[in-house]
Amino acid sequence: MRIITYFRSFDLAMKILGIETSCDETSAAIVSDGAVRSNVISSQLVHARYGGVVPELASRAHQRIIVDVVREALQAAGTGMDDVNGVAATYGPGLVGALLVGLNFAKGIAYGRRIPFVGINHMEGHIFSNFLMEDAPTYPFVCLVVSGGHTMLVHARAPLEYTLLGETRDDAAGEAFDKVAKMLGLGYPGGPVIDQTAAAGDPEAVQMPRSFLEEGSLDFSFSGIKTAVLYLLRREGVGEKGEAVHRLSPERIANICAGFQTAVVDVLVAKTLLAADRTQVEHIAVAGGVSANSLLRRRMEEETSHRGQHLFFPRMEYCMDNGAMIAYAGYERLKRGFSSPLSLPAEAALSLWNGTRA
Ligand code: KG4
Ligand code: ZN
Repeated sequence: MRIITYFRSFDLAMKILGIETSCDETSAAIVSDGAVRSNVISSQLVHARYGGVVPELASRAHQRIIVDVVREALQAAGTGMDDVNGVAATYGPGLVGALLVGLNFAKGIAYGRRIPFVGINHMEGHIFSNFLMEDAPTYPFVCLVVSGGHTMLVHARAPLEYTLLGETRDDAAGEAFDKVAKMLGLGYPGGPVIDQTAAAGDPEAVQMPRSFLEEGSLDFSFSGIKTAVLYLLRREGVGEKGEAVHRLSPERIANICAGFQTAVVDVLVAKTLLAADRTQVEHIAVAGGVSANSLLRRRMEEETSHRGQHLFFPRMEYCMDNGAMIAYAGYERLKRGFSSPLSLPAEAALSLWNGTRA
């Protein structure tokens, strides 16, 4: 007797549905044999009035919209659920109530359609956002992952093999942008608005501290610069939630943004280059929401072109949280035979490594 197991159409195209709901973006995408066919991102606007993401509201908003977002992703890819032969969803790190919406939706599809399911680490998704364009890094490479929740330098040694080189000891870079924007009454999220406002400012006008930590350290710390902005504003009579910010001229606000942004970018660039030297890689990638920052992009381009290194930044729609990077990570895992059980739980503090720190 012969037992033959069929994996539906895996010898044909691998068409993966990717779902991302770890924070305040509801996103779904179709990636077919590694190429993005659609990527639908719905950003929740409800949080702006609270000055930050409200977990319960995020989870409810994901629930309201997830069916439409998935349907739109299928339509935009010109495909139907019948053609999808794998489903990937973020299972951590992130807000647990938000994660559960996308994760359970993906499991439901996998169970109902009898197709493989794989849970994806959100940070691995960000790293893979550099593989969604024609020109992708080759292994081994170093990736600076900078988002609202994380700042880390990763040595991607081989597909799916990562070593932590350094990470933030306190605030994430994006979090520092968001907090400083709040102090300046610029609203949420802070990164894009500081980036824009800084363009009109003089980065030399306001001196900000740069925290490099111990000699040679690849860790980060951004709480000092956040406190420096707080004290500076306090001296000028401005509260930490932007109270009385009208005392500052638009020019002064632009200078503070420019000084702050330059200090953060200086540290990010210096440590990324150091990480590349230490691991002797020629390919350097940047990922996560803060990789959209115009100064970071410009400075990294200047520095790496001087040194003859290859630099990779995701396209703008792949910097922010998106389903395409999750679908692509699913493709990389499923094609190697890695899938997850339907019992996989959401993990708010999921890590990318098992103790592998350089
Ligand atoms: O990766 P992401 O979309 O979500 C997380 O996984 O956290 O990153 C969001 C973060 C926010 O802190 C936001 O302020 C920041 O990315 N961000 C920026 C820019 N665009 C978004 N930070 C600096 N400059 C930008 N242009
Ligand atoms: Zn993210």
